[in-house]
Amino acid sequence: MVACAIIFQVTCFENEVFRELYFILIDVILVKKGRLRKMEKKNINWSEIGFSYMPTDFRYVSNYKDGAWDEGELTEDANITLNECACVFQYAQTCFEGLKAYTTEDGKIVCFRPDLNASRMADTAKRLEMPVFPEDRFVDAVVQTVKANAAYVPPFGSGATLYIRPFMFGSNSVIGVKPADEYQFRIFVTPVGPYFKGGAKPITIRVSDFDRAAPHGTGHIKAGLNYAMSLHAIVDAHAEGYDENLYLDPATRTKVEETGGANFIFISKDGKTLITPKSGSILPSITRRSLMYVAEHYLGLNVEHREVLLEELKDFGECGLCGTAAVISPVGKIVDHGKEICFPSGMEEMGPVTKKLYETLTGIQMGHIEAPEGWIKEIC
Ligand code: PLP
Ligand code: COI
Repeated sequence: MVACAIIFQVTCFENEVFRELYFILIDVILVKKGRLRKMEKKNINWSEIGFSYMPTDFRYVSNYKDGAWDEGELTEDANITLNECACVFQYAQTCFEGLKAYTTEDGKIVCFRPDLNASRMADTAKRLEMPVFPEDRFVDAVVQTVKANAAYVPPFGSGATLYIRPFMFGSNSVIGVKPADEYQFRIFVTPVGPYFKGGAKPITIRVSDFDRAAPHGTGHIKAGLNYAMSLHAIVDAHAEGYDENLYLDPATRTKVEETGGANFIFISKDGKTLITPKSGSILPSITRRSLMYVAEHYLGLNVEHREVLLEELKDFGECGLCGTAAVISPVGKIVDHGKEICFPSGMEEMGPVTKKLYETLTGIQMGHIEAPEGWIKEIC
């Protein structure tokens, strides 16, 4: 019986029509068992979508004025009208977060560690002289926005997820260099597929000549300005045929920091240790922090969170980028000014340890591997 079920499942997944039928069958079984609240999903070709913006029905908005946040509400209006001199336009006083909602195998909608995004946004806001949006309200606003857009949460097994983008900006006019007095906090959501086009295919990155973050600067927070200054570097990297930039520490240019949108993980050649860069100027990735825990507690790996020298990269067996958008994207090759560092895991598929990490993390996120206490927030 079990063998038949496995053969049926494998056959189904090789054919698109059978795959659709398989999901319908699973839905019917779950609805019958009362474990799935049926809801009309939007007619979207989930397996074809990339990492791009698609407006959905509702977004959350709260305004800050006279020292207080209003009660906030959902709106259908995706547009924002601001004065030409708004602080966000003149002095880039803006920050954001990124997290995802998933449909689990039994039809629930959940999101992953939203409390950590709330607290990272609070840290960012303080560094940018912006008012903190209360952390409990942040999580509640995420829940409201995802619930209101439940029809856009990609189905289980589709390969897509719902990306959630909370952000905040200085909204009143400011001409002398100083923080705004008024702010807007918003959350929109958009269904997304893989961040890198090839999905799980290893990517090639180059060591960048541009720096991302200064020592004692803003690299450790999620400020819009960090991304503005990386735009030229990413356009240039793409023009030269690379998928991303590896940024070095700007002070000595000898240590690995991160890419424009993800932290690095490395696996030692014997497959027993996960090594990940420690630096005061990289974003404390929630995915990376979760993977460190998964590596140690689920996979029994050693974990080293330390400075990583560029010079050491040739000694590692596998490399990956980790982040909400990137999930874990394998890196096959890093090019340092013509010198190629090719990881033994190759350019065809994810290395074996990276794959185990990927499967365990996504298994936790999609609900078929038990999550550590407090990691999964059920939405509906
Ligand atoms: N580093 C940078 C610069 C990022 O923009 C992101 C994305 O949020 C990450 C790392 C990964 O962080 P997280 O895992 O919290 O999404
Ligand atoms: C994320 O992974 O959420 C990011 O913010 C990375 C990128 C899209 C900027």
